[in-house]
Amino acid sequence: MISQKSVQDILETVRVEDIVGEFVNLKKRGVNLIGLCPFHAEKTPSFNVSPTRNIYKCFGCGKGGDSVNFLIEHESLSFYEALKYIAAKYNIEVEETQLSPELINENLEKDSLYIINQFADNYFSTQLFETDLGKSVGLGYFKQRGFREDTIKKFNLGYATAERDDLTREAVTKGYNIELLRKIGLTTQSDNDFFRSRVVFPIHNLTGKIAAFAGRILSTETQGPKYLNSPESDIYQKSKILYGLFFAKTAIRKEDECMLVEGYTDVISLHQGGVENVVASSGTSLTPEQIRLIKRYTNNILILYDGDAAGIKATLRGIELIIEQDCNVKIVLLPDKHDPDSFFKELGHTAFLDYISQNKKDFLIFRLSLAAKEIGDDPVKKTAFVREIIQTLAKIPDTIKRSVYVKECALQLKIDERVIINETNKLITQHITKNRQENREKQKESYDTVANQGTDHSFTEQRNSILNHDLQEKDVIRVLIKFGHLPFSEETDLTIAQFITKNLSDVIDDFDNKNYQKILQDAIECIHLGKLLDTTYYLNHPDPVFKDMAIEVLSTQYAYSENWKKELQTQKKPDENQKNDAIQSVRLLKYRKITRMCKENQDKLSNLVDEKEISTLLHVQQTLQQLRAQLAKELDIVVYN
Ligand code: CTP
Ligand code: MN
Repeated sequence: MISQKSVQDILETVRVEDIVGEFVNLKKRGVNLIGLCPFHAEKTPSFNVSPTRNIYKCFGCGKGGDSVNFLIEHESLSFYEALKYIAAKYNIEVEETQLSPELINENLEKDSLYIINQFADNYFSTQLFETDLGKSVGLGYFKQRGFREDTIKKFNLGYATAERDDLTREAVTKGYNIELLRKIGLTTQSDNDFFRSRVVFPIHNLTGKIAAFAGRILSTETQGPKYLNSPESDIYQKSKILYGLFFAKTAIRKEDECMLVEGYTDVISLHQGGVENVVASSGTSLTPEQIRLIKRYTNNILILYDGDAAGIKATLRGIELIIEQDCNVKIVLLPDKHDPDSFFKELGHTAFLDYISQNKKDFLIFRLSLAAKEIGDDPVKKTAFVREIIQTLAKIPDTIKRSVYVKECALQLKIDERVIINETNKLITQHITKNRQENREKQKESYDTVANQGTDHSFTEQRNSILNHDLQEKDVIRVLIKFGHLPFSEETDLTIAQFITKNLSDVIDDFDNKNYQKILQDAIECIHLGKLLDTTYYLNHPDPVFKDMAIEVLSTQYAYSENWKKELQTQKKPDENQKNDAIQSVRLLKYRKITRMCKENQDKLSNLVDEKEISTLLHVQQTLQQLRAQLAKELDIVVYN
């Protein structure tokens, strides 16, 4: 386990903008930074990073947290791994204390898998560079393909011998766990080496750790598939990795374009020649996760495929996804019998890039012309294709772009443009209606759960009332977390937290939202115990409900503009009006609670027959109404001192 002191060191040093900035393209906006959220697909940035608070928050999907949360969520690291990652980045020395067996299991298994892969990678490298067979066969192969030694080292390429279980035996001798070796796929169930007689390409994840390997067969005489890939594991999901992205990310951002090729060797070859914004989909069609990976760095994808039908078909399958995510997709077809690797070698750097810029075509238009050629004048084929293409057209979020495609479609297929527009619009309307309905249903469900506890006023009334209560409860919690530690006023030594808890203790049982109730209850207990309730308390709270809430209320969506900031120096920011904020929000919540109690009491009254009970409830009703009138009066008067 990492010692408490080291954890503190790490958390004090880490800057959220450094960590998030490695994965998200951030731009300055006021005091904050914004970018496209890496956790959901979006067109306009709603992902906010606050350097002053050291947290991030997406106002689109709601995800938020600190640097550690980000790494856990985004990179699928464990807490332990995230801390180690940060420590390595800032060169912080980490003191480790004795590990408990459970922690080893929970936190270290992924780490162990990476360590084993690292061991295997060293092993494959040693075989390649330091054994006679490796040098003649493995290195010989790479050299013959034109890979330089620095390139081979950069991509950590290696060689696996024909021996049955050399790697496995050496790993076990060195103390690596055989179970984990099997789990990561380096050792087969019968304890043989998985990769044999192959050159080996490690597959790096975004952070540069080795998640898997691919082994390429050396001679056409040997049996078996051309490439053998590590099986999927806790650290390797094929659909979520792009080969070469770790080496390409900086260049992709710089060029604002990502080239997509099919093969490992294409990536390596282009990199070696100085074209570094290249990644490979590893022979499969693109997945949404992979597109999202690319979208962190650019919206422009350029597909480089050999002219054969299979290659194009594979990409076609992913195209709707890319278009829906609002990427610009272009394609370059390479001359017959060439793949990017061979074509690049033939032309060299400059001529290759020239060819690309002269031959790249918009993908959808390319697809249209391809289809138009195939369809010819066959009306049945044409109808079928138009039905299909309008599905894609309807998904283009950008209206201008859509109309360009519609025109092109009409032209290529020789169809009236208005027909295509009509059909596309019909589909779009259908999508919208469907989405609305789904949202409404979702909302209704959540209201229903809460509404069950209520009495029998009409559904809408109840729904509105629940929504209002929830918002108002939340507002009180916002004030509590944000200003709880500040003095309520100069005249008393009451804190804001004390003011809130004192005034709401009588309605706490009436809270609808159990999370807000929990936070308020906790505050009451803390005050009783004399604990300080400040933002740090909430941000470091072990209960994620507290922490999430703190992150949410502490991230301000709108940064102050420069002009505003100057003005603000002479007057109080709205934030600093904590006393009024507290009074207003407590009163409004209380007003709602009392109003609801009044209604419920009234309902009960109308069902009663026993006179004694009626008289008691009438008395209650009177008191409630007085309270309510009092609050209403106060709410109209804004108190300013
Ligand atoms: N591929 C695979 N398994 C195979 C064949 C191909 O996983 N049996 C994947 C690999 O990721 C490969 C990509 O598909 O890189 C493209 O295949 P191919 O063009 O055949 O391989 P190259 O990488 O171009 O290899 P080489 O240049 O040595 O032919
Ligand atoms: Mn190839």
